[in-house]
Amino acid sequence: MLYICVCVQEEAAPMDEPNKPRHGSMDKDMAELVIPSLPLETRCPPFPLRQYGGFWMPEPFLPGMAAARAGFEPRPSDVLLASFPKSGTTWLKALAFATVHRADHPPRSLDHPLRRRNPHDCVDFLESVFLRPPAEDALAALPSPRVIATHMPCSLLPERVTADDAGCKVVYICRDPKDALISMWLFTKKTLAAAAMDDGNPPKQYTLEEALELFCDGRCVGGPQWHHVVGYWEASRTRPEKVLFLRYEDMLRDPVGNVRKLAEFTGRAFSEKEEAAGVAEEIVELCSIDALKNMEVNKNGRQEYVNNESFFRKGVAGDWENHMTPAMAARLDKIVEDALRGSGFAFGDTSEST
Ligand code: A3P
Repeated sequence: MLYICVCVQEEAAPMDEPNKPRHGSMDKDMAELVIPSLPLETRCPPFPLRQYGGFWMPEPFLPGMAAARAGFEPRPSDVLLASFPKSGTTWLKALAFATVHRADHPPRSLDHPLRRRNPHDCVDFLESVFLRPPAEDALAALPSPRVIATHMPCSLLPERVTADDAGCKVVYICRDPKDALISMWLFTKKTLAAAAMDDGNPPKQYTLEEALELFCDGRCVGGPQWHHVVGYWEASRTRPEKVLFLRYEDMLRDPVGNVRKLAEFTGRAFSEKEEAAGVAEEIVELCSIDALKNMEVNKNGRQEYVNNESFFRKGVAGDWENHMTPAMAARLDKIVEDALRGSGFAFGDTSEST
């Protein structure tokens, strides 16, 4: 993809030697030398963003990304869940975890980990794990097959993940940019409110106009969103046995069919016996937004920056219509359309757009 290659080469050089054995010094180099030299965006709460490899990434996670690129040793059985934020990551984490670990944790079990822990506590982000050394020990302790997540763009994944001869399975979830924007804006407002509660200050204002302006300019976590999506879409076309591309809108329309896809792709297709017993349907039910929302841990638990309940809002397609004016939507649509021209990719439910 031409524009991605161009962007990556803009300012990727300092950190871009992922497989050199300089793991120990990587965090220090990154923190002290490389990160402060990258373009900075401070208008997009809650984190300052730095532009790296053509993408705007949260500054606090860049050392973790660098360490993951240098040190992550994927296993062929690993399942890496990738997403642009607010695109259904939490749902995919729950579905993938429940699917690949169904032998140890039958979805109907009252003691299922997803009934006790938030999906983000069942499946961690690679870049977060590598912020807390020794990451290898934490990863080695995960049950096999290991399910790990990332918001890293495809072009910034560790080379070992994308290597043709090795690597691991990658599952990407894509969402309509207008819904991702609205979800991100409302989530950000919740993180600001949570931070304000902690500090005892009034929450910082963050208007939709401000969020749209930044999003259209690609200046949001993982942005530009459409470049993030297209990078994985292209990888799924060139390496379909390694990269599965799912769409949030398709998953809402046919959750069971998509869970079957996930099971087959990860080498754990449902047996006839499981099909007859409705195991895929049970996984979908366990991971439905209503079921997860109502679990005690998701009503009252908390992640570092935000309450667990913030991860479960409406969970529908097209909610942007309730927030954006037609002019706002047309502006973003035009930017996305121009950026995607010639790529062969289009957003939306595949029953409408392919
Ligand atoms: P909305 O804000 O549009 O409701 P992420 O997990 O990447 O942060 O994405 C959050 C979005 O996924 C939110 O969208 C949230 O409601 C939705 N979501 C969370 N859990 C879901 C589930 N089990 N099923 C469907 N959507 C879910």
